[in-house]
Amino acid sequence: MADSEDKTRWKQEGRTAAKHQVLTEYLGAWIPILGQLDWVHDLVLIDGFAGPGRHTGGEPGSPLLMLEAFIEHRAKQRFDVEAHFFFIEKDLRRVESLRRELDAQGVPPDGVTVEVIPGDYAQEFSPVVEAARERWPDCPIFAFIDPFGADPHQELTADLLSLPRCEALTFVPIGYFADLFVAPGMQRTLGQVFGDKVFERGAGLEPTARRELLVEMTEERLRGSCKWVRAIELVPAGPQGRHHYLFFGTNNPTGLARMKSAMWKLDPVGGVSFRDSTQPGQGVMFEDEPEFGPLLAALKVRFGDSIFTVEEAEDFTLFDTPYLHDSQLKSKVLAPAERAGELEPIDPPAGRKKNTYKKGTGIRLRFIEPPPSNESLF
Ligand SMILES: C[S@@+](CC[C@H](N)C(=O)[O-])C[C@H]1O[C@@H](n2cnc3c(N)ncnc32)[C@H](O)[C@@H]1O
Repeated sequence: MADSEDKTRWKQEGRTAAKHQVLTEYLGAWIPILGQLDWVHDLVLIDGFAGPGRHTGGEPGSPLLMLEAFIEHRAKQRFDVEAHFFFIEKDLRRVESLRRELDAQGVPPDGVTVEVIPGDYAQEFSPVVEAARERWPDCPIFAFIDPFGADPHQELTADLLSLPRCEALTFVPIGYFADLFVAPGMQRTLGQVFGDKVFERGAGLEPTARRELLVEMTEERLRGSCKWVRAIELVPAGPQGRHHYLFFGTNNPTGLARMKSAMWKLDPVGGVSFRDSTQPGQGVMFEDEPEFGPLLAALKVRFGDSIFTVEEAEDFTLFDTPYLHDSQLKSKVLAPAERAGELEPIDPPAGRKKNTYKKGTGIRLRFIEPPPSNESLF
């Protein structure tokens, strides 16, 4: 059992700071987009494993960060929505601590409701979602699901992956499952979480390949309730630590784009992993530059030597790769490829400036070289 599971509050680790950064970056972008849509009148934000509200060093926990993302948003004056927060926490000492922290913040402003629910995620989460859907039909729902990494309760972990229709950022202790794959007593848990196929697919794999398989199977499972799923790996500080993952699932392409941007803030080199040895928010080393070759290669595999539109390339980049369709595709991949003579514009509209790819200009493109292979690169 992890140390922190015995205490009401615990010290914030790098991994937690990383989770919090993804959470706040994403909500900072998600809230104003939804908050300004005509059809959205209510937002629901649920923390399924809320914790005590603060760490021992005074850093705010996820419930305070979620509230702040809404209440303190710099564009708050422009939202015409109410926000409803539900914080589920099983440990009664932590429930008390969280309530004290929330009280210390004062009465929530108009248009904000907060409910702390003492209880078990497995029992409380679905009813909260169902009641919210009944009360505020069509309201967007965001859930943060963040259990402790060690010793996850088997039925609970299976529940984490069968989400009702909503957006969710979910911590899954993949490293734990991968390391204990053959441990006595783990069979039932693995079967419940990943389905029985996991034994056939995972047999004989070495640890890294097994971890990759479990990530793939988690994504497959989350795709049962979310159209798009992306993962970020939380790499431990030392060789003994376990590699766990945060998964994000959504049915909204803008939500997907904003989450990918949040992930690139954490990992400015690849948008797919966070190293516990670096502090989130700090710059990366000078030599750690993002590598855009894989995106170019993937586009070549996807489109071969056929003609495609910029919009098709954007959709592919957004939905099928970790790269950013809005800030990386054109400037970091298409323009350099065109300059290098690897990409040619087909019937460019009159007056088009070289290496520009404006939407709606009807520009089409073609790679000059055939694709290197048919393999998927991501
Ligand atoms: C990793 S901590 C959450 C930290 C918090 N999300 C944050 O970022 O500040 C996990 C919390 O889940 C609580 N917990 C454990 N099992 C639970 C369950 N079945 N249902 C609800 N809460 C649970 C623990 O007491 C603990 O406070």
